[in-house]
Amino acid sequence: MLMDQKWQRSRLASEVAVTSLVTVLFFLFTLFSAALLGGCAGRTQDVNELAGVAKRVDALELKVGNVQDTLFNGGQVSLLAIQPAFAETMRRYADRFADMFFAAKNGNWALAAYMDRRMREAVASLRVTRPRDWSAVNSFHRTSLDPLLAATAKMDFAAFQSQYAKTIVTCNSCHAAMGFSYVMFVQPTQPAQPNLNYTAKTKATDFKEFLPPGTP
Ligand code: HEC
Repeated sequence: MLMDQKWQRSRLASEVAVTSLVTVLFFLFTLFSAALLGGCAGRTQDVNELAGVAKRVDALELKVGNVQDTLFNGGQVSLLAIQPAFAETMRRYADRFADMFFAAKNGNWALAAYMDRRMREAVASLRVTRPRDWSAVNSFHRTSLDPLLAATAKMDFAAFQSQYAKTIVTCNSCHAAMGFSYVMFVQPTQPAQPNLNYTAKTKATDFKEFLPPGTP
């Protein structure tokens, strides 16, 4: 009887031990799975975020195109694709360059300074649309438009006229360098915009946005 009780007690004890061990193991397993699932959930979230970012980059590229001159397959709808590049820009550039001459010749120096600034603005977009050619435009401004603006600031037509002829030569050198040697600008004999008063007597600094030579 006593033996029986003893045996039963030890059986009970071992059953308790086994149950506790199973419980502990189960608890550990639950913890481990939770950690594993949590990790996976984190990764799924990362993947979703990446997919979201990629979608936004695609949408942005569709809008702005690829600035590196390689057409993105949505290029035809990009803002970059519909920007005027050299040809249209040069039309406006050349017209203002011609008008500048008549303004200087007739003493409307503010109008000459105005034309200089608007010429520079006309090509400013090339910095974005034709980034590889921007340095050529910029160096042309330094070497060929700045001296013209200096003569404008001094209201010195003799200096202006001789620099104007030199500037025409550099205009055409750039054309040749870029494969357009047959696009030859010549000394204009009339303004591109005839309906402006070229003879009003003004100073260069009357142009309120006047910036000294050397400003981009
Ligand atoms: C950085 C180089 C560069 C400089 C500097 C430059 N041009 Fe041009 N120009 C071009 C290129 C390139 C074209 C041809 C554009 C095309 O068709 O792709 C062009 C075209 C032109 C055209 C023809 C535009 C048309 O289609 O009717 C005129 C006019 C012109 N340029 C005038 C001038 C004048 C005037 C100057 C100087 C005050 C000048 N350019 C300076 C690069 C230049």
